Amino acid sequence: MIISQKLEKALNEQINKEMYSAYLYLSMSAWAESENWRGATHWFAAQAKEEMGHAMKIYKYVFERGNRVTLDAIDKPKSEFKSLTDVFAQTLEHEKLVTDSIHKLVDMAADENDHAASVFLQWFVTEQVEEEANASEMLAHLERIGDSKQGLYMLDNVLSKRSAD
Ligand code: FEO
Repeated sequence: MIISQKLEKALNEQINKEMYSAYLYLSMSAWAESENWRGATHWFAAQAKEEMGHAMKIYKYVFERGNRVTLDAIDKPKSEFKSLTDVFAQTLEHEKLVTDSIHKLVDMAADENDHAASVFLQWFVTEQVEEEANASEMLAHLERIGDSKQGLYMLDNVLSKRSAD
């Protein structure tokens, strides 16, 4: 059964938001690389890849339901950041916006009694809990470390250990 026009539009917008997320994190990775934070470069590149995966998961689902995907322009991401704390603070803020957007989709699917879409979207609800927790955890470490060069070096090393998948 195809998805309603309204939900199709919202899912298409979510594809765009996930692609923007990928673009934003790639921009953060590029910033980290220019600042010689090797671990953060890797961490944000992996995050960008994960976001493309989110976009494609929705993309495939929309087609699976017999609907249409229409791609829109992707906004320009920021390219300048003040510090590692700044990038993780902005990551957390961004993920909160994405969580709100996912929750709105869940509400819309429920309003329309689209049980299949409701089940599909549950994966994203769980994923968002993890996304916010990851960013919060890094931010908490960074706030504790403050300006300690040794602490920042060690944290960057931790970031380099993130699996690339
Ligand atoms: Fe796909 Fe980080 O939200």
